[in-house]
Amino acid sequence: MTAMIVFLHLVVFLQIEVSISESVCKPGFFPCGNLSVCLPREFHCDGVKDCDNGADEEYCGDTNGWVILFENLYRNNNKTKETQECGLDKFPERCDCKDTELECVEINLEAVPTVSNNITLLSLKGNKIQKLQDEVFIGFKNLTNLFLQHNCLRHISQKAFHGLYKLQKLYLSNNCLVSLQDGVFGHLRQLKWLIIDENPIKTISQEVFTGLESLFFLSMINNSLEALPQKLCAQMPLTNWMDFEGNQIKTLSNLSFETCDELTVLYLRGNQISLVNENIFSTLRSLADIDLSHNLITDVPLSSFKELKFLQKLDLGCNPLSLHIDQFETLQHLRSLVLDKIEIPNISTRMFKPMKNLSHIYFKKFRYCSYAPHVRVCMPSTDGISSFENLLANTVLRVFVWVIAGITCFGNIFVIGMRSLIQSENKTHTMSIKILCCADCLMGIYLFFIGVFDVKYRGQYKKYALLWMESLQCRSLGFLAMLSTEVSVLLLTYLTMEKYLAIVFPFSNIRPGKRQTLIILLSIWVAGFMIAVIPFWNEDFFGNYYGKNGVCFPLYPDQTEEIGGKGYSLGIFLGVNLVAFIIIVFSYVSMFCSIQKTALQSSDVGSSIHTDVAVANRFFFIVFSDAVCWIPVFLLKILSLFHVEIPGTVTSWIVIFILPINSALNPILYTLTTSFFKEKLKQLLQRQRRRSIFRNERKSLSTSLVWTEDPAAQQSSSLKLGFLHKKSLEDSMGTST
Ligand SMILES: *[C@@H]1O[C@H](CO)[C@@H](O)[C@H](O)[C@H]1NC(C)=O
Ligand SMILES: *[C@@H]1O[C@H](CO)[C@@H](O)[C@H](O)[C@H]1NC(C)=O
Ligand SMILES: *[C@@H]1O[C@H](CO)[C@@H](O)[C@H](O)[C@H]1NC(C)=O
Ligand SMILES: *[C@@H]1O[C@H](CO)[C@@H](O)[C@H](O)[C@H]1NC(C)=O
Ligand SMILES: *[C@@H]1O[C@H](CO)[C@@H](O)[C@H](O)[C@H]1NC(C)=O
Ligand SMILES: *[C@@H]1O[C@H](CO)[C@@H](O)[C@H](O)[C@H]1NC(C)=O
Ligand SMILES: *[C@@H]1O[C@H](CO)[C@@H](O)[C@H](O)[C@H]1NC(C)=O
Ligand SMILES: *[C@@H]1O[C@H](CO)[C@@H](O)[C@H](O)[C@H]1NC(C)=O
Repeated sequence: MTAMIVFLHLVVFLQIEVSISESVCKPGFFPCGNLSVCLPREFHCDGVKDCDNGADEEYCGDTNGWVILFENLYRNNNKTKETQECGLDKFPERCDCKDTELECVEINLEAVPTVSNNITLLSLKGNKIQKLQDEVFIGFKNLTNLFLQHNCLRHISQKAFHGLYKLQKLYLSNNCLVSLQDGVFGHLRQLKWLIIDENPIKTISQEVFTGLESLFFLSMINNSLEALPQKLCAQMPLTNWMDFEGNQIKTLSNLSFETCDELTVLYLRGNQISLVNENIFSTLRSLADIDLSHNLITDVPLSSFKELKFLQKLDLGCNPLSLHIDQFETLQHLRSLVLDKIEIPNISTRMFKPMKNLSHIYFKKFRYCSYAPHVRVCMPSTDGISSFENLLANTVLRVFVWVIAGITCFGNIFVIGMRSLIQSENKTHTMSIKILCCADCLMGIYLFFIGVFDVKYRGQYKKYALLWMESLQCRSLGFLAMLSTEVSVLLLTYLTMEKYLAIVFPFSNIRPGKRQTLIILLSIWVAGFMIAVIPFWNEDFFGNYYGKNGVCFPLYPDQTEEIGGKGYSLGIFLGVNLVAFIIIVFSYVSMFCSIQKTALQSSDVGSSIHTDVAVANRFFFIVFSDAVCWIPVFLLKILSLFHVEIPGTVTSWIVIFILPINSALNPILYTLTTSFFKEKLKQLLQRQRRRSIFRNERKSLSTSLVWTEDPAAQQSSSLKLGFLHKKSLEDSMGTST
């Protein structure tokens, strides 16, 4: 009945509709430019024109922050040289000269060569110049670009760059500079770019930058700076862009950025900053892009960015940060927010609501995206189970979901049919087995629909992922799978206990009658139903219990936000199911011991060993299939308790390969391999064979040979059945019903 209702829901809601609203789109949707059509956010920038006017493929890259600035900067910087002839008459032989530009790259120069004074570009990359003496470039009045990378420069005297009044770009990267002298750049009044990456510079003072009154861009990536000087911008008031990535800055002084009125981009990525004071950034009135990722920041005061009216992009990723619920209240202008690798335990939609203009957001988990539904682009766009394109990322999974669904459905339906056809004396046991098959069949139906939705979303899953997980279909499927596993587990436990009682206490008369069995079976279904339905009770407490991954099964392999859902999942899988598993294992072990004891007492040793092996085999396979099915789940839950990161793909493998093992094997274990069933089958076959032999008696002699084998087999099997106690054992085991 429940299965029927769920099934109907699935059929009715198979379509996820695209809503069309007046002007404002509901959360998770965006408007097609000036049209009134709204599309799910996953349609944005997917390479397919979904809006008639193509508005969904506009503004695709995250161009907030420095990207725009950079473009503006380079737009006018495209002068192509017409003359390729050398315009210099004095320069070392091995250098390349074009017009007034000279490249002396990797030619083992140990000092700055003498060249004509009208040089405009000088590249000395990859040489062995260790020292720059006073006034080595004097006279190069028209020099605009000077490249000195990869020289292992150790010392630059204070007057080395004197006379370079027109220098615009100076590269000092990849050298061995430990410090820079005060006023070393004193004459570089036109300098716009100063790049000093990859040096072991430890400290730097404000006076080093004296004279850099036009400096626009300062980069000191991968040095060993431990602090920034006070009033960093006092000598270079026009600096727009500062990059201090990969240093060892531990604290930021309140006064560091005090005069940086023009600073637009500030990168402090990959340092060791742990404390961000409230007022540090308050003077950066033009700041548009700040990167504080990969630091040790644990807390960002609420008012830190309050004054920053132009801030577009904020990167706080990879910090051990805990966010407040009203963390972003003062950041209404923000367009791009990076919260990579940040765990947000009490995430809520309220957190991101104030940032009305936010267009890009980057989270640690796919799931978080549902809390920022108004943001156009949310990353990551998938969890581990599902890939960008497909619900089931792996081809093996995609194929086997059908195979296993088929096996499970067919096996269980076949057994239900067989059990109905073949009459047996023990009606209650047959009923239990049929009910078990019904429960296992639900698992097949669940897998079947997972396969259907995988096909439905193939190639475009990314678009629908969130909608799918929040859809009723996904929740219903999760419910179905949960119902199936729990009813199956409880039924197996019940069947085991029944056998256990019959074998360990063979002469007591405590076997339940037909009515009692019915009541027990009914209550098992009710219990399974309750277990599966409880998470729908309170959305706030359990969250979207079933819709946590593409396969809608609530395994919760990682740390999640909803304590309720996580605790419930833990309680079911590591509580109910583990207890059931232990009961089953314990019962079968003691049953086996009990049988061995009676076997030792009996006299007919040879034949008893024969049956013992058969019994032990069956017991072993029942316990083994249970163990194979459940131990991975228990392990997963225990690992998650110890905060071990488990890749999302593990869940899908467990759900598609491991969990259905029981459902697929149960019909085989509890019916197809039982001696009763074999006996019936043999009788059926023998009857047929006897008939055919009777008919073809004269035709063939060889068939009669086969026939002569059979009485022996029959004899041995009747010998087997001669054990009265053993027969009762097998009977109660359900092997011969
Ligand atoms: C939308 O804007 C385009 C130009 O950008 C204009 O041609 C078109 O008429 C507008 N459509 C509506 C419905 O306003
Ligand atoms: C700059 O030059 C490149 C080729 O070197 C060209 O593709 C680009 O369009 C040019 N940009 C401008 C603004 O002229
Ligand atoms: C550069 O100066 C030298 C003399 O020092 C002169 O011969 C040459 O023509 C000049 N080149 C240009 C491009 O002015
Ligand atoms: C520098 O360039 C200007 C014009 O571009 C030229 O007049 C002057 O002679 C050049 N100076 C040297 C030293 O070549
Ligand atoms: C800085 O160092 C990191 C790690 O060593 C490296 O990946 C990066 O390329 C370096 N950056 C620069 C600009 O050299
Ligand atoms: C920096 O500012 C914070 C907050 O205003 C203050 O508590 C701290 O003492 C200041 N530090 C210095 C070195 O001035
Ligand atoms: C987040 O939850 C924790 C406990 O779960 C609580 O201590 C903390 O105050 C909450 N933070 C906010 C901002 O609500
Ligand atoms: C959001 O963006 C629009 C258009 O760019 C602008 O007019 C508006 O002021 C922005 N809102 C905020 C809070 O910055």
